[in-house]
Amino acid sequence: MSRKFFVGGNWKCNGTIEEVKKIVTTLNEAEVPSEDDVEVVVSPPFVFLPVVKTILRSDFSVAAQNCWARKGGAFTGEVSADMLINLGIPWVILGHSERRLLLNESNEFVGDKVSYALAQGLKVIACVGETLEQRESGSTMAVVAAQTKAIAERVSNWSNIVLAYEPVWAIGTGKVATPSQAQEVHFNLRKWLQDNAGAEVALSTRIIYGGSVNGANCRELAAQPDVDGFLVGGASLKPEFIDIIKSAT
Ligand code: G3H
Repeated sequence: MSRKFFVGGNWKCNGTIEEVKKIVTTLNEAEVPSEDDVEVVVSPPFVFLPVVKTILRSDFSVAAQNCWARKGGAFTGEVSADMLINLGIPWVILGHSERRLLLNESNEFVGDKVSYALAQGLKVIACVGETLEQRESGSTMAVVAAQTKAIAERVSNWSNIVLAYEPVWAIGTGKVATPSQAQEVHFNLRKWLQDNAGAEVALSTRIIYGGSVNGANCRELAAQPDVDGFLVGGASLKPEFIDIIKSAT
């Protein structure tokens, strides 16, 4: 089964309205592979989502960087999945390590968010990944399996989930996983999906890599059989994001 290459740009907590419009202009003017070959989703901060959605080329899509775990109400500072749907935002990133680690989001809480967001009709980029300490102690697979299990226990339909493997030690550090390190974890995650969610889910779910991906290292990573795309941070704010999109073909 062919899995369409997926390139996400996570702009994180960056940008002014002027800078955001400039990034969108660069994206809109770029020649990239057809949307039949690559799915591109950019994720600006919440406040810029409506403007980016309005001015972004129609073959690219937008994602929020987070949403609340259930229906809205008295939850100061949160944004609900229902609100994103109301605005026509199709995607959301959930479980990013910056939220897991800095804001203490547990596996279960992330699983609840994924479940609620899917139920409201959002598509989800669900992030998993180990810290350097966990990798060095040999527990990489146990960590990402536990993170994925908390999602699998709450979700029966995986067709609107993209799983992003993002080793924490590679995020924003310039220390990208080697192609074989990425492939090993992606292969094992797919095997985990096969054993726990079924062969069809394992074959069809896109598993993308994130962590210091740039224009120079993307092609070798993209050539790995179980790497179905990228979630890009820093480089998604720069013109080299176009090169990363092009690594799909
Ligand atoms: O969501 C994206 C990841 O955190 C990767 O960030 O490309 O800046 O390392 P980075």
